[in-house]
Amino acid sequence: MRANVVPIRPKPCPPEEGDLAGRLRRRIVGQEEAIRAIVPYVELYEAGLAPAGRPVGVFLLLGPTGTGKTRTVEALADALHGSERNVLRIDCGEFQLDHEVAKLIGAPPGYLGHRETHPLISQTKLNAVASERSRLSIVLFDEIEKAAGSLARLLLGVLDKATLKLGDNTTVQFDHSLIFLTSNLGAREMAKQTTERFGFAGAAGQPPAARLERVALRAVKKRFSPEFVNRIDRILTYHPLGPDAFEAILDLQLEALQQHIAGRLGENAFRLALSAEARRFLLERGTSAEYGARELKRVLHRHLIQPLARLVLDRLAGPGEVVRVEPDERGERLCFRAGTGVHMPS
Ligand SMILES: Nc1ncnc2c1ncn2[C@@H]1O[C@H](COP(=O)(O)OP(=O)(O)O)[C@@H](O)[C@H]1O
Ligand SMILES: [Mg+2]
Repeated sequence: MRANVVPIRPKPCPPEEGDLAGRLRRRIVGQEEAIRAIVPYVELYEAGLAPAGRPVGVFLLLGPTGTGKTRTVEALADALHGSERNVLRIDCGEFQLDHEVAKLIGAPPGYLGHRETHPLISQTKLNAVASERSRLSIVLFDEIEKAAGSLARLLLGVLDKATLKLGDNTTVQFDHSLIFLTSNLGAREMAKQTTERFGFAGAAGQPPAARLERVALRAVKKRFSPEFVNRIDRILTYHPLGPDAFEAILDLQLEALQQHIAGRLGENAFRLALSAEARRFLLERGTSAEYGARELKRVLHRHLIQPLARLVLDRLAGPGEVVRVEPDERGERLCFRAGTGVHMPS
């Protein structure tokens, strides 16, 4: 029964593969085109050859939910600066009304509330997401389809001249910045193309990438002005994830979990070993056409991480021990074997 239990170990990749593309590839599954498009802009900057007076690169990332758009930006921050948190992230859902842009740039002097408003964007904040390793700041405007028109107009200046004037009349310079816009505009139409033409599972593969891109671009042009679209350097379409991609993402997430356990519990850390059936259990529940790998994350949380927390609290997983994970006999939940005991989550 236990024959195919394999302990999880980090992949035998070199710990710091020199090139940026390689580092991104180890974190982002199945979106090769995006990686290839982004890397040259970073290299141009690092070589000192990026044009002045404009952002280093402006990318619009399109495609279905949970396919790695935000993940790409986090992975790039990690690769450039050593932490996923080195991103100035603007959640456009917070700026759905025109007057809300004051939160972004601060209210002009003399306005009610002037003193209390701390703009979300400032030169200090922008510089703070760069690092000693690289001066390049990564800025993410997430889910731009939700933004009010006033925010889109503000963005226009940023994309074009790399400057943003704040409420207090100071300016923020974006010429050491890479700007990412993400959106699910067109995602529904893209999904329709996949299901209508190729059947739900997409047995014969996906519709040609070019077709998906046309569909996405049409949706973008409907929503944003030509000036806006023209200032984007690359529009990148993220593709729906196939079964192999889900498997690879599960591997990545299990590795991350193992590292998290090691980091948090230190000497008391235990090791996880999932059977092939346990992996299948997670993949079957976590594979979603609608939510992409987000569902996988949720499933991992519910069926693996939360029960593990119980195990830790009940002191059932000792230091250095291997915790074996398998589905129960009815295949309804995962159970955990540590030491001599078998633990079933309630
Ligand atoms: N292509 C991918 N490669 C690796 N992990 C992914 C990928 N797509 C999604 N994930 C996982 O799913 C989570 C949600 O993906 P995210 O990038 O936030 O989706 P979105 O495309 O909606 O921005 C990520 O944090 C990551 O763990
Ligand atoms: Mg996202």
